[in-house]
Amino acid sequence: MKYKIAVLAGDGIGPEIVAQARKVTDAIVAKFGHELEYTEALVGAVAIDEVGNPYPDETHELCMNSDAVLFGAIGHPRFDNDPSAKVRPEQGLLAMRKKLGLYANLRPVNTFKSLIHKSPLKTELVDGADFMCIRELTGGIYFGRPQGRTEDGQTAYDTCVYSADEIERIVRLGFEYAGKRRKKLTIVDKANVLATSRLWREVSQRIEPEFPDIEVEYMFVDNAAMQLITWPKRFDVMVTENMFGDILTDEASVISGSMGMLPSASIGVHTSVFEPIHGSYPQAAGKNIANPCATVLSAAMMFEYAFGLMKEGALIREAVDKSLEAGVVTEDIADGKKAYSTSEVGDWLENYIQNA
Ligand code: IPM
Ligand code: MN
Repeated sequence: MKYKIAVLAGDGIGPEIVAQARKVTDAIVAKFGHELEYTEALVGAVAIDEVGNPYPDETHELCMNSDAVLFGAIGHPRFDNDPSAKVRPEQGLLAMRKKLGLYANLRPVNTFKSLIHKSPLKTELVDGADFMCIRELTGGIYFGRPQGRTEDGQTAYDTCVYSADEIERIVRLGFEYAGKRRKKLTIVDKANVLATSRLWREVSQRIEPEFPDIEVEYMFVDNAAMQLITWPKRFDVMVTENMFGDILTDEASVISGSMGMLPSASIGVHTSVFEPIHGSYPQAAGKNIANPCATVLSAAMMFEYAFGLMKEGALIREAVDKSLEAGVVTEDIADGKKAYSTSEVGDWLENYIQNA
């Protein structure tokens, strides 16, 4: 079978890490007899520089006509330090999410035996932690309007908006995922303060009786932030709104030991996007030192979620596990031992798959 993949490498370390994921996906399709057609397109700061738009129309067209999108990272420090910039790379990512209807961002969190000691948390707390964060991705305060400033510029406002329909589709997904896993769903909100959160609870409680075999708990986000690092093993599937999910998943990355290990899948209406949860890491751009594993594992999710090819995804995961065991790792997880370069890790993974 032939699959069309849009490759949006983006900014910073994006091109380097995506190049390693492509080595891996090429090795997989060669082994299993599939075919991939890659088409590259611009997104982020590079797209602003070249065409003045962080998510150009041509890029959107390509994504709409692709079976999956492999995404690197976006962001550039020159925009971060300039609050007056009218066009920002992040707008490209947000426009892509909205226009492709990517309402569900799946961020699996688990540990890797050979990295357990890298977590700042105690081994007995994190060993065996394995849960799925489902972050709503096209609503909430990221997209609510009005957003802006008063005329005198001295007051600014953002608006958090959720409709019952938006809540229902993501919460249903949470129930369905919990059904396929350990049957426990944690719904995270701030219903003691926010009207949108109270609607989340109302809608969730309405759906609850349809899933009698799922154990449901409702948790305030501040409590969830604490429980994530004091008792991560209690979670199975967590579902939450856009900004809470953004913050909690960065926090959850410390469980794995490195941000460089966490992949994600954004699924929705038109196509799906696979990207690492980390950013563009500008300090490392062009240095061939960034950890490619999160992007490689995102490619594993692509085979599984977009194409339904489970063995292919499993072999990529196995290759990553073996590379960690073999100590073929980048500096973020090298622990004072020899650090391999981004491309050396990619070569090792490619070679492992070719010889598997
Ligand atoms: C993420 C990122 C983005 C977000 C930024 C780059 C807009 O932090 O994917 O988690 O906040 O969603
Ligand atoms: Mn984030």
